[in-house]
Order: sequence, then C-alpha cells, then structure tokens
Amino acid sequence: MSNHLNSPQLYCDPQIFDQERQGLFAEQWIFAGMAHQLRQHNDFIRVDLLGRDVIIQNLRDKLVAFVNVCSHRHSIIHDAPSGNRSLTCPYHSWHYNAEGIPTGIPCKKAFPLVTANPEAYKLQSLELARLGTLSFCALILVSKPCQVF
Ligand code: FES
Repeated sequence: MSNHLNSPQLYCDPQIFDQERQGLFAEQWIFAGMAHQLRQHNDFIRVDLLGRDVIIQNLRDKLVAFVNVCSHRHSIIHDAPSGNRSLTCPYHSWHYNAEGIPTGIPCKKAFPLVTANPEAYKLQSLELARLGTLSFCALILVSKPCQVF
C-alpha cells in the first residue's frame, strides 16, 4: 500500500539524477555565466553543464561555447575556472579559431589528414544565447529561442 510519499532513494539515486538531467534539462537553455566575465578578447569561463565540461570564450567580441576537450589527444583546453588565455590546448599547442577549427598546429606536416580537412577536427560547439548580461548554453539544439523560456 502506498503512503504517497516519495522514497528518500529518489533524492540520492545517481541513475535517477542522470535521467532527470537528460530528460528534463538537456533540451533546455541553461544559465552558464555572466557577460561581465567575458568582456575582453580571450576572456573565458569554464562551467559544468549537466556533467559536461564546457568553456565559453570571447574571441574578438564573439562569444563561443565549446566542450572543453581538444580534438587532438583529448586534453582539456582550459583547466582554470576562468581567465584570459587563447583557445590553445596546453598539451601540444593546437590553436583553435572562433568556429572551433584547428588553425594553428605545430609540426603541421606530421598531420596531413588534419591539414587537408581541418573542419573535420572542429571542437564540439554548443548553442549559446545572451539575454542582457546573462549567458545561456544548450547542450543540444533547442527548438525554442532563449527569449521564450
Ligand atoms: S592534446 Fe591538444 S594539442 Fe595535443
């Protein structure tokens, strides 16, 4: 017989937490940061969005959002929570442009597949929207503009 009370397990079960993250929030705009943190070229913030390590960066006044994983050997690109640093991986110094395409690759000749088709090695980008001083990210393409939420 049910007493209509939620089991305490519902509040601490990692599987239920993951279902809620994917089912409720993955298709929503999620607050990611404040615009004042991203005023200058190369300013960045690093945020955890539903367990994904995400960076939001100002690249010549364009705000971009990427999963914080390098296309080369999957190193994290920014390890600080915020700062001012180019979009360059610290491991082998691949540099990425505002589209997430690797444009600066040391020892280019060693990577003929990458230099022939750099777009195939883009960082994973995320939808990004700004409402006033607030920035929002979406992990997957959302059908409603951010203003509707
Ligand atoms: S792992 Fe990023 S440049 Fe090699």
